[in-house]
Amino acid sequence: MTILPKHPSGCPYLFLAPMEGVGDRCFRRAMASIAGFDEGVTEFLRVPCNAHVKSLARDYQSDEIAPIPLAAQLMGSDPDLMAAMASEIEQRGAKRIDLNCGCPSNTVTGKGAGSSLLKEPSHLHRIASSMVKAVSVPVTIKMRSGYEDISLFKENLLAAQESGVHFITLHPRTKVDGYGPPARWDLIKEAKSILTIPLVGNGDILTVADAVRMLEETGCDALMIGRGAVTNPFIFHQIKAHFAKTSYTPKWEDLERYLLIFVGEMHEGLPLRGKLNKLKQLMSFLFRANDRILEKRQTMLTSKHTSVESFLEDTMAMLYTGLFT
Ligand SMILES: Cc1cc2nc3c(=O)[nH]c(=O)nc-3n(C[C@H](O)[C@H](O)[C@H](O)COP(=O)(O)O)c2cc1C
Repeated sequence: MTILPKHPSGCPYLFLAPMEGVGDRCFRRAMASIAGFDEGVTEFLRVPCNAHVKSLARDYQSDEIAPIPLAAQLMGSDPDLMAAMASEIEQRGAKRIDLNCGCPSNTVTGKGAGSSLLKEPSHLHRIASSMVKAVSVPVTIKMRSGYEDISLFKENLLAAQESGVHFITLHPRTKVDGYGPPARWDLIKEAKSILTIPLVGNGDILTVADAVRMLEETGCDALMIGRGAVTNPFIFHQIKAHFAKTSYTPKWEDLERYLLIFVGEMHEGLPLRGKLNKLKQLMSFLFRANDRILEKRQTMLTSKHTSVESFLEDTMAMLYTGLFT
């Protein structure tokens, strides 16, 4: 099996990043309608100490964005439970299972999961290798550069690699950094020189130029994009077009369909306020992407509407005028 195959154009394999709270099923299904990325992954699925893995695993649907593959990301700290959950998820059709070693939230790290795993490389190794042994599909790790600092950076990378995972995705910020300071792409380059397994570069890719620069500066094997895809859902097509030496012009119909699918996927039981907040969160990213509508972002965020339809009508008019005329 070729891991992370490049496109004939030379374009690297492109991942849509996991984003709990922003990149949920609604977003992934909407993104899949635009497509352009090679693989998606769920936001972390928590595996707490008292987990009943069979029922937890039901949250995962392998065909959610078919034909684009969707991996499952697991977050927890008990090696046996993580292995059992990985096995359940494999039975539900996952072609790849990812271990979260990056979530900075204290409610998570307080329980020893997410980025806390970076404090103890031997424990990270134990969890990852028990997952690797439990399934026949590739297990991978997504990690930050460290917890408080990067003193265990190399140890964590080697522990991950020795556990038998197929590749590592590196978001080069520490847990303490959160999302604040710029991602340290020099650490992606350093990781590439340490590892023999493939490395996916992630962090602060907002434009095609950023994607090209990350590849050139770090030598990473593939790219993962999160917030850059929420601000510009066409970014994957644009990167592919760059490598294919063609051009890609976003179409209004595609953005319109993207928004309608997002709305259509929202849970029916969600109250109007919840629906509007969720839509505003998505729109807020889109409005940031273009100077012509940036100034209208606040108006959009504070607008009052009595239905999702009227919010959409007003906001889509602003988007159309700002982005497509
Ligand atoms: C709202 C939000 C939620 C996130 N949730 C997850 C998650 O569930 N699992 C994970 O591994 N990373 C998560 N991340 C981190 C992203 O996957 C990614 O590593 C980070 O945002 C840097 O990439 P970007 O600059 O392309 O967004 C999240 C990031 C954001 C902004």
